[in-house]
Amino acid sequence: MVSSEPMPSSDQTRLLIVEDVPQVAQYIRGLLNTQASIKLLDVVSDGSRAIGQIRELRPDVVLVDSLLQGRVKGPKLVEQIHEAGLDVPVIVLTVPQQPVDEDPGRGVHGVLAMPFSGFDLMTRIAYVKREHAAASPGLAQHVFTVFAPKGGVGKTTVAFNLAVAFGQQGQRTVLIDGSLQFGDLRALLRVPVDAPSIMDLPTDRIAESDLADVLWRDPSGVDILLAPPRIEMAEMINPRDVDKILSLLRRVYTTVVIDTSSSINDINLAFLDGADTIVEIVTYDSTTIHNTISMADTFRSIGYPASKVHYLVNRADSPGGIDPDDLHRALGRIPEHRVVSDGHLVVRSNNEGVPFVLADPAAAVSQDIARVASELLGTRPAAAVAGHR
Ligand SMILES: Nc1ncnc2c1ncn2[C@@H]1O[C@H](COP(=O)(O)OP(=O)(O)OP(=O)(O)O)[C@@H](O)[C@H]1O
Ligand SMILES: [Mg+2]
Repeated sequence: MVSSEPMPSSDQTRLLIVEDVPQVAQYIRGLLNTQASIKLLDVVSDGSRAIGQIRELRPDVVLVDSLLQGRVKGPKLVEQIHEAGLDVPVIVLTVPQQPVDEDPGRGVHGVLAMPFSGFDLMTRIAYVKREHAAASPGLAQHVFTVFAPKGGVGKTTVAFNLAVAFGQQGQRTVLIDGSLQFGDLRALLRVPVDAPSIMDLPTDRIAESDLADVLWRDPSGVDILLAPPRIEMAEMINPRDVDKILSLLRRVYTTVVIDTSSSINDINLAFLDGADTIVEIVTYDSTTIHNTISMADTFRSIGYPASKVHYLVNRADSPGGIDPDDLHRALGRIPEHRVVSDGHLVVRSNNEGVPFVLADPAAAVSQDIARVASELLGTRPAAAVAGHR
């Protein structure tokens, strides 16, 4: 890992300032110096560079001096940020002689008149951030860790196809190859050995441009954070790195899908802890069911609420002599999701390294994955997906 600085906690506010008067910039820096809750990403002095920097650095709040001179002046910049749909609250700095009205409808989410104190600055920033979050309930972020306490049940297959399905449902999706030792997705997609991987991710910088350099862009449209290219390199990733990576990706993507290996180790626990929802794969197989019950005990003792885990029955139409009711009894509930078996399509697609949800979207197994994606996002399933059970 190229990591050094500690990653800011997720309640830290990432601030970008657009200010061309060095003394004012210096004054604000001074006020922020003692504030651990604010991370100053950059001070941009040229208004024409501001939009690009906002896109790249993804601040939580932007401060714009309304007296900004140059090609793009303060008020014009505020208008441009608003029109660009950057979805970031803006605080306008002004002087008492030139009052500016707060007007979120026109991109002015807060106003600060100079001179202001550190307290004024902090409360304004907290206020616009809070108001903005309250006004954007649609920006829910989802981290799904696909896990099973038994190997070979379809974790990699489901994670890959689910990620593609999320992308098709309009989610900005990243897939993490969390099977760090063997890199199942590397194998599935036949990625070249020199492709960038999790090893190359700088965890101390948060620019989206850094991400662009380390993610594998699969032809299916999903961005993939690959596992290290060699088995022994997996040891160089620690649970703290995993936490950092997840909070980094949460900022940039609306949906994060993580493929894991089947063991319980520190890395997998970090992927499980970091999940909003664990998608635990079960199949009709007595060892899998046995391990799943043990796993449920472990999750309970770790303190995960039952709602954190969603069971997905893979190859749900192949009960192999096991009564579905026995499975439900063993799990203590009816599994939330099911995906049918399709030996021909799934194996062929995996061998070709393509997602079956794109290779044959009409197939029952593809429709199942699409439905699971909707269910996990809490949206209504598409009308066409029912009826094959
Ligand atoms: N719904 C399905 N229908 C048919 N075959 C499937 C289905 N799901 C998975 N498979 C097949 O099962 C095998 C194992 O799948 P996969 O590699 O995704 O499992 P895994 O849980 O990731 O395994 P590992 O524990 O090795 O990481 C593959 O050959 C795959 O093609
Ligand atoms: Mg796998």
